Amino acid sequence: MRVAILTSEAVPFAKTGGLGDVAGALPKALRAAADVDASLVLPLYEKTDRALLRGQIIDNLEVEWGGHRHLVGVWYSEATGAPSFLIDAPRYFARPEIYGYSDDHQRFAFFSRAALELLKRQGSPPDVVHGNDWQSGFAMAELHSRRGIDPFYARTRTLLSVHNLAYQGAFDPADLARMGFTRRETRDAFTQDGAAVALKAGLMLADALSTVSRRYAEEIQTREQGYGLDWLLRMRRDRLVGITNGVDYEVWNPATDPHIAAHFGADDLSGKRECKRDLLRRFHLPEELDRPVVAIISRLVAQKGYDLIRQAAGKILETGAFFVALGAGAKEYEDFLQSLHDHAPQRVGVYIGYAGEPLAHRIEAGADVFLMPSQYEPCGLNQMYSMRYGTVPVVRATGGLDDTVENFDRAKGSGNGFKFARYAADALLGSVYEALYCYAEPDVWLRIQRNGMRADNSWAAAARRYVEVYNAVMRM
Ligand code: ADP
Ligand code: GLC
Repeated sequence: MRVAILTSEAVPFAKTGGLGDVAGALPKALRAAADVDASLVLPLYEKTDRALLRGQIIDNLEVEWGGHRHLVGVWYSEATGAPSFLIDAPRYFARPEIYGYSDDHQRFAFFSRAALELLKRQGSPPDVVHGNDWQSGFAMAELHSRRGIDPFYARTRTLLSVHNLAYQGAFDPADLARMGFTRRETRDAFTQDGAAVALKAGLMLADALSTVSRRYAEEIQTREQGYGLDWLLRMRRDRLVGITNGVDYEVWNPATDPHIAAHFGADDLSGKRECKRDLLRRFHLPEELDRPVVAIISRLVAQKGYDLIRQAAGKILETGAFFVALGAGAKEYEDFLQSLHDHAPQRVGVYIGYAGEPLAHRIEAGADVFLMPSQYEPCGLNQMYSMRYGTVPVVRATGGLDDTVENFDRAKGSGNGFKFARYAADALLGSVYEALYCYAEPDVWLRIQRNGMRADNSWAAAARRYVEVYNAVMRM
């Protein structure tokens, strides 16, 4: 089985969030779990470390675009542990950021077109083109119309994975024609409330759909969490599955992690104390190792529950805990974190910006409690990373957080974190207090840590479920 995975980001080439982690790990997992011939196709960004590339394998890929023929290069790498092809189109991708430009829709439509040309150039057609998020909506639409006329793609099937329904890639429908989407059916698939919406076209035209947890697969079919597309997801619910993301335990493993101060595992957690010391030093906080460290790492957007954190932060500090935050995003939240730090510099450590992998690993290893009070969370990866590092997650019961975190039950000794349901600061605080009471009882705390560290969230199970979907779609 040959599968080409299209993505806008993948570790270690480019990352802004969880999609990067998932796309970096899935091809390798598919190869290991089911011997699938999986490869990755993504843009070559200015940020991508050229040392990761083996070399340019194509320098003249022809891409028909806007009435002209463009020549682009393709670079090859095996840095993820599976073959990756990086499309080198400087006009669209030699820019400082991955997203955030007014022509993003053109950039990723161009990428989709180039990716399909590349697959063709490789000679034998993929069985499945597996796209991710709105950026791949264009490829889903194009394959849908192309396979009727292009024998090369006649038997290729498509799967679109939704990592976040809120990001839809809307643009001016006047651009559709210039991008080559001229057929009536295709244009209709893009159209929603007078705009062209890349994700909608993908959801409409992909052969199968998936999202990144079971719970989120249900939630996005409701009006409240459907972002205007719930009707379409309900209409196609028999084609939609929820597959919870895995963790790449080669990358996120406290027993071998090169970024952390000392190694540790479920049987012997003593190294975690060294990691906590390292974390406190890194943030210039006093080395008071018995005080709990409450941490958060996330994009600073409303989705992540920053309004609740803003309301609850003062009370969290009143418990005597340290608070450590890493994030980049909306200015109002950056300002809030900065002022929290200025108000209590001995208790609050803040890094504003995208720090890359090392600091995220050091925080996971050194913290005691990890907060994810998300409004919604398709899957969430940090709660799973936290568990593996003996850092206890406090999460809101939504999406993948609800599927992966089990509330601690004192009587049974079961559970690996703390969950609350209502999106409200007092509900978050209730769970934080409960966690900190348990932290004060070392035996109880160790129990919760070990329950989390021993949870198996590896990619193997998820990879096998993707293979089931690929098989099903190939029979269509
Ligand atoms: P999302 O994809 O919605 O951002 P996830 O929990 O799935 O949420 O994944 C977030 C990933 O991005 C994690 O690997 C996390 O460590 C990383 N991350 C988020 N913000 C930063 C940042 N400012 N610096 C470094 N890593 C970050
Ligand atoms: C999205 C979601 C996050 C998920 C990630 C990877 O960015 O917000 O919940 O873990 O994609 O699937």
